[in-house]
Amino acid sequence: MRKEFSDCYDLVVYQIYPRSFMDSNGDGIGDLGGVLSRLDYVKDLGANAIWLCPIFKSPQCDNGYDVSDYRDIDPIYGTMADFDALLAAAHERGIKVIMDFVANHTSSEHEWFQRARLSKNDPYHDYYYWADEPLTDWRSEFGGSAWEFNEPTGEYYLHSFAVGQPDVNWTNPKVREEYAAIVDFWVGKGVDGFRCDVLDHVSKDFKKGLRRNGPHLHEYIREVFGRDHLTNIYTVGEAETTEESILATCGQDRRELKSVFQFSHLMVGRQGKYTPVPHRMDEVKDIVEGWERFTQERDLLYILLTDNHDRPWFISRTGNDRALRYECATNVATAIFLQRGIPFVYEGQEIGCANSHFPDLSAFNDVECLGYYEENKGKIPEATLLEQINFGSRDNTRRPFAWDGTPNHGFTTAAAPWLPYASRADEINLAADLAAERSIYRYYQQLFALRRERVALRRGKSTQLLPESKDCYVYLREHEGERLLVVCNFERAQSLDGLPEGRLLLTNLDRAAGANGAYAPFECAVYDLTK
Ligand code: BGC
Repeated sequence: MRKEFSDCYDLVVYQIYPRSFMDSNGDGIGDLGGVLSRLDYVKDLGANAIWLCPIFKSPQCDNGYDVSDYRDIDPIYGTMADFDALLAAAHERGIKVIMDFVANHTSSEHEWFQRARLSKNDPYHDYYYWADEPLTDWRSEFGGSAWEFNEPTGEYYLHSFAVGQPDVNWTNPKVREEYAAIVDFWVGKGVDGFRCDVLDHVSKDFKKGLRRNGPHLHEYIREVFGRDHLTNIYTVGEAETTEESILATCGQDRRELKSVFQFSHLMVGRQGKYTPVPHRMDEVKDIVEGWERFTQERDLLYILLTDNHDRPWFISRTGNDRALRYECATNVATAIFLQRGIPFVYEGQEIGCANSHFPDLSAFNDVECLGYYEENKGKIPEATLLEQINFGSRDNTRRPFAWDGTPNHGFTTAAAPWLPYASRADEINLAADLAAERSIYRYYQQLFALRRERVALRRGKSTQLLPESKDCYVYLREHEGERLLVVCNFERAQSLDGLPEGRLLLTNLDRAAGANGAYAPFECAVYDLTK
C-alpha cells in the first residue's frame, strides 16, 4: 500500500459539530474558541485528528451546509484569526484538522448565486442548473420539489437539498477551477484534509434521471483532488458505496479520494429515516464484516463509524441505551474501532450519548425533520409524527455537548443554548460519566491507547472467527507475529467456545476468565495471543 494511504491507519478522527461542542463567548452557540479550549480533551481521548463540520460564512439554513463564502469564517464561530489560532494549537498537539468541503451546492446567498439569479447573461448564471420547466420530478431531500422558480429570469433552479442550497453546475469548467482554488486556499493555510459532502452528487444526468454518480464524476474528482500537491492530503467522501464505485473512487491508482464512508450498517433498525424496525446486531456485524473483507482484499481504506451529525444515536437504535448503556457503548466501540480502518468518533459518543424525547416540535431545529413534518402533517397523526421525529431527527446528535450536570451543562454562559440540551443531559454528561464507577470515556481512552500501542490493531490483517455464531463479533488482528483477539458478545448472555486463549488486555466488565466461556450481554474483551 502506498505510504500516504497506509499512514491513514494511524488516524483516529474526532468529528466536531462546532455549534454544539463548546461556546466560548456566551451567545449560546458553540464556536472556534470553544473547540480550542477543548483540544486537550480530544487529545486525551486518543484522537489525533478533528473533522470540523462547516464553519464557513453561511445563513445557516442547513447549519453551515449552505455556504455563502468559502474563504471566510461565519461570525457565529469567530474570525479567520480564531481559525488560524485553532489550527496552530491543534498542530502543536499533533492533531490534524480536516475541513468539510461542501461543493454540490452553495447557499442562495453566495455571491455567485446572487448574480446568477438576476440575469441569464451574467457569467455566474452558468454556475447553476436552470430550466424553463423542471427537468425532472425529483423531490428535494428536505421535502418539496427539487426545482424552485426564480422570478428575475423566469426559470427554475435545481436544489437537491433546501431551497436555500442551489446545486452548482459542475459541467462548467470554471466551477471546477473555483473549487480547486478553494481547496488550495485551505491547504495553503495548512489544513490536513477534507471530508467531501455529498460528492457523488456533483455529476448528474438529467436525461437518464441520475441525481448522482453521473458520467463525469471521476474526472471531476480527479480535477480537484488528483493534483500532485495534494498527495498527502487526507480525503474522505460521502459518495455512492457500491463495490464498483468504491473501487473507482478510492483505488490507489485512481488519484481521487483516499476513502469514502459506507453507511449501510447504519440503516439497521430503521426503515427510511423515521420508522424503527426490528433488527439484530448480527445484521450490523454482517455488513461491517462484508466491507472489511472487501476493502482488505483490495487494499482499500475502510471508515469505522457508528455515529455522525446526520443520524440519531446508534446505541439508541440498535442496543439498550437505558440499563445497559455503558455496556452497549463500550461494546460497540470495541467491535467497530478495533477493526481494520480509520475510526471516526462523533462528539458525545465517547460518553454514551443517547436519543432525546421531547413533547413538541419547538425543541427541534433540523431542516430535514421540519421538512418531513410539513410534508406529513394532516396525513400522519400528530402524535405519531412526533414519535417519528424523536426517533429519527438529526437533532438527536446535534444537541449541545453536556460537559457537566449544572443547568447550562458547562456548554455556555448564555441563558439558553441555540438548541435545547438532550432530554437526558442531567444523567448523561461528561462529569457524570467520569464520576461513575464505570466510565465510557475512560474505556475509550484505553481502547485508543491499545490501538496506538499495537500495530496489529492498526495495520494488521483482520480475520473473522466464529462466523456462524449468532449474536457476537469475534475477530483476529495479526501483523508480523503480533496477534490480538477481539471478542464482542452482543445482546444475550451466552457461552463461547473454540477460541484461542491468550492474555487479557482489555475488558469492559470484570472479566477474569479466558476468551472461552460465559459472556454477559454486551461484554467484550481483547486478548494478546502473541507468542
Ligand atoms: C451533510 C448533511 C447536509 C447535506 C447537505 C450531508 O450529507 O452531512 O448534514 O444536510 O449533506 O449538504
